[in-house]
Amino acid sequence: MNNNVLNNLSYGVYIVSCKINDKYTGCTVNSIMQITSSPVTIALSVNKENYTHSCLEEVKHFAVSILSEKSNPLAIGTFGFRSGKDINKFDIIPYELIDGLPIIKDACGYLICNLINKTETATHTIFLAEVINGDIIDNNTPMTYSYYHNVIKGKTPKLAPTFIND
Ligand SMILES: Cc1cc2nc3c(=O)[nH]c(=O)nc-3n(C[C@H](O)[C@H](O)[C@H](O)COP(=O)(O)O)c2cc1C
Repeated sequence: MNNNVLNNLSYGVYIVSCKINDKYTGCTVNSIMQITSSPVTIALSVNKENYTHSCLEEVKHFAVSILSEKSNPLAIGTFGFRSGKDINKFDIIPYELIDGLPIIKDACGYLICNLINKTETATHTIFLAEVINGDIIDNNTPMTYSYYHNVIKGKTPKLAPTFIND
């Protein structure tokens, strides 16, 4: 099989965030898609080794910041290549609180979600969540995963579901 064909699948770039033990944490994800519209449901794939995984399992409530082409790529790197086990990422990246959850300041939109179900794979949990609130922040073009790779020249870390093991 030519694994490079998987690069032709399309995604966006998001920061998933939650509040745990009175602290905010989260990570970069590309693997979000809308599953149903009534109620609005999304799916999200999170590696079991990510700190965010255990946090989502515990608090069952999270936000999604939708990044745009104008969002500072520093957020993608800080949330995507470092762990909330070691640092407080929200000390580095500006945010505002919406419904008590941190949203990246220069995101173009956000979703507020409640976990409703999950399915296990060997490495990742597929979380299903109902979207209970959300809004557009600005009209900048949402960042695609291909923009992240081709324009920002961003890399894919080992724990992302799209990592290709050559
Ligand atoms: C562009 C990009 C996309 C990513 N997508 C995912 C994803 O969909 N699921 C996932 O579990 N990790 C994904 N990651 C990797 C996590 O963001 C990374 O392992 C992070 O350091 C985990 O932080 P944590 O330990 O604080 O949860 C992605 C990283 C980047 C840079």
